Amino acid sequence: MTEDQQKQIAAEAAVTYIEDGMVVGLGTGSTAAKMVDLVGKRVKDGLDIIAIPTSEATAGQAKELGIRVVGFDEVKIIDLTIDGTDEVDPEMRLIKGGGGAHLREKIVASLSDRMIVIAENKKMVNQLGTFKLPVEVIPFAAGALLPKMEALGCHPEIRMKDSAPFRTDENNLIIDCAFEMIEDPENLALTLSTIPGVVEHGLFIDLADIVLIGTEDGVKKFSR
Ligand code: 5RP
Repeated sequence: MTEDQQKQIAAEAAVTYIEDGMVVGLGTGSTAAKMVDLVGKRVKDGLDIIAIPTSEATAGQAKELGIRVVGFDEVKIIDLTIDGTDEVDPEMRLIKGGGGAHLREKIVASLSDRMIVIAENKKMVNQLGTFKLPVEVIPFAAGALLPKMEALGCHPEIRMKDSAPFRTDENNLIIDCAFEMIEDPENLALTLSTIPGVVEHGLFIDLADIVLIGTEDGVKKFSR
């Protein structure tokens, strides 16, 4: 089974948790996009939900599929959020932000009753950190934050796209931090959160309730 198929079966398993009347958080990335397509199909078949997207890209996709998209002016609490991940460890801690959307993703996840994470098998790791940790920062502070990140034990670099610094949906920059291994994710998360100029980091701790991993042997489910 290809990685793409593993993402697909994880997405298919996740959308079975969606019920009529729910407010649903829609994640960002290629796996989440498969899930949004499936939600779109169910909406066409009569599923009655309201959705909060985690990025402009997902909002555009959802609207095209006829999914009703709202903001936090209309809803305050989300029943269920389904999102992808870049890494997930045995304690269901995540690294997210490969698509640069982790700020809105974390806000949506934190306001959700339940978060389901979907991914292909290779995203499961014993220890977080092989994937570079994305840290969204205010552009004004970026130059000063690079040495601060280095002092935390990583090799930091500003994310680029088409030869220019990548801009998030909030018009911020991303510093990708190559730690290789993150020994203490909770402590690092806390440290990063206290640095002025850091808007949000990609460590998601105590947010995932269910993890659905597509594998050669079908979908593996992990819950808290
Ligand atoms: C975007 C994310 C994505 O969920 C993460 O990068 C996984 O993406 P993909 O499903 O394309 O592998 O965190 O900010």
